[in-house]
Amino acid sequence: MRGVEMASTRRTGAGGEEPPVHVPVLQSEVVALLRGDAPLGLEGWIVDGTLGAGGHAAALLDACPRARLIGIDQDPEVLVHARRRLARFGPRARVRHARLSTLDRVLHEEGVTRVVGVLLDLGASSLQLDHDARGFSFAVDAPLDMRMDPDRPRTAADIVNRWDEEDLADLFLYEGGEPRARRVARAIVESRRRAPFLRTLALADLVERTLGRGGSRAHLHPATRVFQALRRAVNEEGEELRAGLGLAENWLVDGGRLAVISFHSGEDGAVKRFLAEGARAGRWELVTRKPLRPSPEELQRNRRARSAVLRAAIRRRRGAQEGRE
Ligand SMILES: C[S@@+](CC[C@H](N)C(=O)[O-])C[C@H]1O[C@@H](n2cnc3c(N)ncnc32)[C@H](O)[C@@H]1O
Repeated sequence: MRGVEMASTRRTGAGGEEPPVHVPVLQSEVVALLRGDAPLGLEGWIVDGTLGAGGHAAALLDACPRARLIGIDQDPEVLVHARRRLARFGPRARVRHARLSTLDRVLHEEGVTRVVGVLLDLGASSLQLDHDARGFSFAVDAPLDMRMDPDRPRTAADIVNRWDEEDLADLFLYEGGEPRARRVARAIVESRRRAPFLRTLALADLVERTLGRGGSRAHLHPATRVFQALRRAVNEEGEELRAGLGLAENWLVDGGRLAVISFHSGEDGAVKRFLAEGARAGRWELVTRKPLRPSPEELQRNRRARSAVLRAAIRRRRGAQEGRE
């Protein structure tokens, strides 16, 4: 499987000396695909469904002077950075704490009726991955949490300590792409009989002892895929993506543009199938027949971009049954 994320080498967090940053991935490509050929770019509301620190959002507002943007993110901590970054746009930028699956409610509450662009930049922000206390990384000891939205009831520890062996194995295999998922699940279930897993390093050490280091993917820590799978389950990333794509389809006007950046092959597969099916039914026109990937220059600047894949499409509404616009 392509697209597993590794822990960062930069460490930050409460009391950390370096301010955390997130470098937007494929930024100029996203802006070009969303703004299109019109001289002033998009005019109307753009939705950034995964606002993060607001890097893409700021670039889009700069490139489309007649656009306004609503940005949502499920993580209130990253929104502090987004609000600061977007302050210079005044009322052109609105920021809300929300999940993709609740976008309908947010847009109704904000009085938005016409959406001309949607961006989904999936996965986690460096602000989350590099934050020592939040448990996303196997490189730092922290509570086994991984919730992007602190209002979610279930942490990674809940999953590791409560799911049965078969469900854990399926999770590591299908959401993390871990080929030796069954072995890891068995080791977890045996070990948690003695003591529950509460900290990241206890889990990372067990996975490392179970799988060993080495093999053809020796550059990856053996716990990489297990941690990715847990993060995806804790944050219900598959369900949220399906909801986000459906909402983009419902809200975009005829000619409205969608761009999606994925970091995981399963995620990109879901986007590809959704758009291909929509294109066959005349609901979408594909802009990227083949997905875009970061240039070697971008990869040199930002290692985290290495598994990014960008797809874009234009909404087509044909016929009276397709309401908006
Ligand atoms: C890769 S970052 C986005 C970075 C952003 N484009 C930028 O330029 O800073 C992904 C962000 O999406 C948020 N996110 C992920 N899934 C979400 C969901 N279902 N609903 C709302 N926000 C979500 C995460 O909390 C994270 O901040």
